[in-house]
Amino acid sequence: MAQLLFVLILTVLVSSSSQQEETVMDKILAANRDMNLFEGDIMQTATSRNGIRDVSKLWVTRVIPYKFKTGDYGNSEQNIIRQAMFEFTARACISFVPWTTETDYLYIKKGSGCWSNVGRRGGRQDLSLGNGCVTKGAAIHELMHAAGFWHEQSRYDRDDWVIIKWENIKEGKEHNFYRYSELDVSALGTDYDYGSIMHYGATAFSSNRRPTIVARVGTPSFGQRRGFSDTDVVKLNKLYSCNESVGWSDWTEWSPCDDTCTKTRQRFCSDPNGCTGESMETETCPGLCQGANVARVIPSARKFDA
Ligand SMILES: *[C@@H]1O[C@H](CO)[C@@H](O)[C@H](O)[C@H]1NC(C)=O
Repeated sequence: MAQLLFVLILTVLVSSSSQQEETVMDKILAANRDMNLFEGDIMQTATSRNGIRDVSKLWVTRVIPYKFKTGDYGNSEQNIIRQAMFEFTARACISFVPWTTETDYLYIKKGSGCWSNVGRRGGRQDLSLGNGCVTKGAAIHELMHAAGFWHEQSRYDRDDWVIIKWENIKEGKEHNFYRYSELDVSALGTDYDYGSIMHYGATAFSSNRRPTIVARVGTPSFGQRRGFSDTDVVKLNKLYSCNESVGWSDWTEWSPCDDTCTKTRQRFCSDPNGCTGESMETETCPGLCQGANVARVIPSARKFDA
């Protein structure tokens, strides 16, 4: 795969003081402030595309082999990470198995901070849970990236739900608040989810401690790292077609029409012994081609939609 995306999440030690509540993500982002990372905690090393619509980036057998780097985690830390993995099995159809000979696997290590690819990259794929972020919530967040999820506030429809306070964002960090086109990100049929474990906290990348993300209506809290929200679980089940037994997944929803007046949908085979047939369907959009009207965000653009 030419699309190499790394999510790099650095952590700081979580203080036990009872100051104004700061989410884990805020702390992670604070630790990242001097680094030039894409979308706050994503290090971009190649062309950016969302993994969710591209089923070739999923762990299509629904089994994710993993290996802990020898000596990096004691038993209690391994147990915390395994508890995070178990949530994927208990609430969806993703299982994690100790790596033996599989080509593609997660290599979990105590690197500098925490980071992961978005989706399955192919081959050994490092995922770091460094000192201070070996918590169940942070591990779930990273494993969700590895499973194919981006941050919730990158959804194409996020402006209907949150207001990005550009004036409070540190100069040069605006790119962290890009949203992605529906061509690239599938909402998987769900409403915007403030409670997602993949949502930023309210003061992420603030230059002045004022919020950078405000809900349009009401005062929902966001940025939690306790565990899956119900909608996170729905999306995970949908992305991996967990209601279907092993074999062909459901088709994804049709994409919007792109700028060549084409729409696509995909499916994958979860049977390790193989399925035969088509895994992608393409249709030409009828009538007037709307493709050119679909806003797309170019991640390298300096400023977006302020
Ligand atoms: C699984 O859910 C999809 C809708 O998301 C539905 O179309 C499909 O029929 C369901 N499959 C089974 C086996 O229930």
